[in-house]
Amino acid sequence: MAYQTLLDERRDGIAYVTINRPEKLNALNDQVMADLQTCFEDIQQDAAVRAVILTGSGEKAFVAGADIGVLAVQTPVEGKERSIRGQRVLDLIENLGKPVIAAVNGYALGGGCELAMACTIRIASENAKLGQPEVKLGIVPGYAGTQRLPRLVGKGRTMELVLSAEPISAAEAWRIGLVNQVVPAKDLIGACEALARKIMANGPLAVRFAMEAVNRGMEMTEEQGQFLEATLFGLCCTTADMKEGTRAFLEKRPPKFTGQ
Ligand code: COA
Repeated sequence: MAYQTLLDERRDGIAYVTINRPEKLNALNDQVMADLQTCFEDIQQDAAVRAVILTGSGEKAFVAGADIGVLAVQTPVEGKERSIRGQRVLDLIENLGKPVIAAVNGYALGGGCELAMACTIRIASENAKLGQPEVKLGIVPGYAGTQRLPRLVGKGRTMELVLSAEPISAAEAWRIGLVNQVVPAKDLIGACEALARKIMANGPLAVRFAMEAVNRGMEMTEEQGQFLEATLFGLCCTTADMKEGTRAFLEKRPPKFTGQ
């Protein structure tokens, strides 16, 4: 499918989604958010796609935030509705049922950092800068940054990042657990592909249920989360993938998963 603001290429089980407004450092306007929603809904239904790599076009930015030109003229009600719409798109990405790897190829600020945090895993290039600069503009993060950031890096670091509005380097983002890996820019997509392929070699249903256990479990008490985990563990025992995975180990051969 063709989008106004995205490139969407699918090959060998991976969807490569690129936000394509390089002249505005891939800032998120309403069209980008609508395109992301349609694109990820389509990817969710496409059985041939087993993993997604999400990046920004050009060499400078992943996404430099929500489009400030749009934010500057919104009414309070529009602001609230825009925030809720954006939160839903990011929730869709977080709960896609397939791993989404953010290839953070430059600035990931404001909505860009929030978008990266909604992805399953983040790999950054050495030149990337991440941050939540909203308070500089007199607003708070609006795409769930105040909620996902403390879950990833803790409350104290969140307060420093959000209140200072200062971006941090890729190396610092790695140190505090905001990104999973930092690689030279030329190796970024290759590193994302290598991780995607590693995940894709595993049982697809087990991968999906593991993501569900972590994502849903984070919203529950630990006791409820453990019960959810045990239930999903039991569900895995009904799958052909579980039989194949365990049999392949015992027969000392690689498994051939079918996602059934
Ligand atoms: N919204 C709208 N336009 C944006 C944007 C955003 N979030 N971020 C960058 N742009 C635009 C710039 O206005 C400029 O457009 P122009 O050429 O028509 O003037 C273009 O993208 C290039 O950006 P520029 O600022 O010239 O690049 P730079 O290398 O000097 O600075 C940044 C890069 C990321 C430091 C700077 O663009 C910036 O601070 N952006 C805003 C970040 C932000 O506050 N994001 C949170 C929003 S809630």
